[in-house]
Amino acid sequence: MSGNFLVTGGAGFIGSALVRGLLREGAGRVVVVDNLLSGHRRNLDEVSGSVEFHETDIRDYEALRAAMTGVETVFHEAAIPSVPRSIRETLPSHDVNINGTFNVLRAAKDAGVRRVVYAASSSAYGDTLVLPKVETMQTSPKSPYAAQKLMGEYYMSVWASCFGLETVSLRYFNVFGPRQDPSSPYSGVLSLFMKAILDRSCPTIFGDGEQSRDFTYVEDVVALNLKAAQAPASVSGRVFNGGNGGRITLNQAWTLLQEIEGVHIPANYGPPREGDVRDSQADTTQAVEYLGHAPQYSFEQGMRATLEWYRATR
Ligand SMILES: NC(=O)c1ccc[n+]([C@@H]2O[C@H](COP(=O)([O-])OP(=O)(O)OC[C@H]3O[C@@H](n4cnc5c(N)ncnc54)[C@H](O)[C@@H]3O)[C@@H](O)[C@H]2O)c1
Repeated sequence: MSGNFLVTGGAGFIGSALVRGLLREGAGRVVVVDNLLSGHRRNLDEVSGSVEFHETDIRDYEALRAAMTGVETVFHEAAIPSVPRSIRETLPSHDVNINGTFNVLRAAKDAGVRRVVYAASSSAYGDTLVLPKVETMQTSPKSPYAAQKLMGEYYMSVWASCFGLETVSLRYFNVFGPRQDPSSPYSGVLSLFMKAILDRSCPTIFGDGEQSRDFTYVEDVVALNLKAAQAPASVSGRVFNGGNGGRITLNQAWTLLQEIEGVHIPANYGPPREGDVRDSQADTTQAVEYLGHAPQYSFEQGMRATLEWYRATR
């Protein structure tokens, strides 16, 4: 994959996987913009010699514009990516997820970038009556985070129609895999499960554990991003689901980890979390048709690969 790329949030969990994916595919130049709020330099250790790293906040227009010089494609992954955090700390979440996204678009247009691929979120759907969730359904965000990510989609499509910047939004469903940081209470549930099973401790499940998610292995999300970057200009301005089409409950996920490890550790249960969606599952028809989406990892394969990574890096 030739060309020059910039990944905002490239020191984060998904962004750093994308950086490695781009380099694997032969990308000419890969620029990372990240303020290290929740990302880490160590996520890029193995590729640090091949990456141009800018410790920059996406709200800093001048720095962002300069970093985008000569870049053809921007992957916008930087965000404060947490539902509970967006409820407890409304201002930073709004500022980064909405104003930061506006700045990325403004800088991209001014720098002559061809395409922006945006990390949108399935949380935009809220609780739908019907599963799987299709892009044509009405959105119904249940948290500030979900509303912010949806606003980002609108901005993407308006930048395409008003300014001729090509944009593609990918609504990620719950992504998991190596380097997802389990150190914060806001961390993704599977990263917390991985840590708990290796520590032989009980995780806390908020609610009855029967809430379900379309857990998607990070390498499938990387592959989808690379396809979105290369798809014909006719996809510009559109939104695609970025899930795999499956649906697993939290209880099933914790049971699978216990089976893999050969242990019996019942989970603790706490009150349901405000803003959480009950069920989530992607309809992948449009991503398959227009982007050639072809997920490679089953849930169990992804879980085994992720668990081995956490074990090896403890
Ligand atoms: N992980 C998921 O399941 C999931 C689901 C839906 C959408 N998303 C989206 O995917 C993207 C990546 O999420 P992730 O799970 O890798 O989270 P992450 O926290 O690992 O990555 C976010 C990155 O953005 C950086 N960042 C935050 N604020 C910044 C700022 N102001 N300027 C520059 N960099 C900043 C952080 O330091 C971090 O490296 C986010 O946009 C998130 O909303 C993730």
